[in-house]
Amino acid sequence: MTKDPHGTALSFTRPTWVEINQANLAANFRLVKQLVGAQVKILAAVKADAYGHGMEPMARALAGCGADVLGVASADEALALSQAGIRTPVLILGLVSTDAERRRAVSVSAEVTVADYSGARLLQRAVPAGRRVVVHVKVDTGMGRLGMWHSEAVAQVRKIKALSRLTIGGLYTHFSSADTDARFTREQIRRLEAIVNELAGVGIRIPLVHAANSSAVLRQPAAFFTMVRPGLMLYGMSPLAAGRTRAWLKPVLSFKTRIAFLKTVGKGRSISYGRTFIAPRRTLIATIPVGYADGYRREFSSQARVLVRGRYARVVGRVCMDQTMIDVGHIPGVHVGDSVVLIGSQAGKRITAEQLAAWAHTIPYEITCAISRRVPRIYR
Ligand SMILES: Cc1ncc(COP(=O)(O)O)c(C=O)c1O
Repeated sequence: MTKDPHGTALSFTRPTWVEINQANLAANFRLVKQLVGAQVKILAAVKADAYGHGMEPMARALAGCGADVLGVASADEALALSQAGIRTPVLILGLVSTDAERRRAVSVSAEVTVADYSGARLLQRAVPAGRRVVVHVKVDTGMGRLGMWHSEAVAQVRKIKALSRLTIGGLYTHFSSADTDARFTREQIRRLEAIVNELAGVGIRIPLVHAANSSAVLRQPAAFFTMVRPGLMLYGMSPLAAGRTRAWLKPVLSFKTRIAFLKTVGKGRSISYGRTFIAPRRTLIATIPVGYADGYRREFSSQARVLVRGRYARVVGRVCMDQTMIDVGHIPGVHVGDSVVLIGSQAGKRITAEQLAAWAHTIPYEITCAISRRVPRIYR
């Protein structure tokens, strides 16, 4: 029986689904290990439902592969992993900024990001007497998001260290442009190194120092420190332009559907809302049961291709909420019920999330994160 990410038996009848290849996930994890070496720990990012792949099964699989830490976005995601019985340490990468979040993070023994001393003090108040919470201090070396500015880090770390219910387990930063700007990334690395060295000079040694996302794992060995934090590459997608390195990475997610309806249309007939596509010749149009409510984005209208019977077929006209039309006039023997690959491979041809991202002028992260909950995930 097919199970959803919560382990509940699924009985779906609409033929639109996602398949997750766990062997490929494991291969990508091994690649990270090979690149960073045995001494460097790995935090596997499973936040945002593991980039749409299903947080609990991916967390369980990655923990089984040897992930040292799992990275989530919020205390609620940490709770979900705890309730699923996953015992690998969890670091909340987002900021717990309300009392309710702080209490929840403490109650599930998650490791918590602190971005400054005042936040650390608020966290300390949520920790019951006799307990300690592991925190990772977040430093802004150029991302401009969470964290204290790097030049203030040493002073703030010293103050945070004095808080009796917190243990500093990590110090980290995040790169703004590891995929596009190696020079600025090296500057961010230098800023983090300077903090580590200065802290060592006053006798403070932080166990985990981390910075590298997938782009940096692939091309910035100086960023490895004592732990790396890949997400995207574990799921087989490349963070680098034009899918460079894709050959090393094995795709994990396939998105599939089946032809629901077929109709011959004459030259000049229009397809879908707004009549943006007018048939240039007599052709065969298939309707497939997938639309923007499933995460098959409206930007794919008259742009994206799918695979049918091992051949590429073009999306024609606007993608609707629950349905999309494709031109299959050039493909012999097409039938209702034929399998349609939206992301994945068929007969040696492939459509990647990176390609769909290019069609929608976005990034592959957004493509897989956007596949909606109504699309069942099948784990193989
Ligand atoms: C703080 C942090 N670390 C690590 C990652 C993983 O990045 P990537 O998926 O590019 O490897 C992310 C993702 O956005 C992040 O926000």
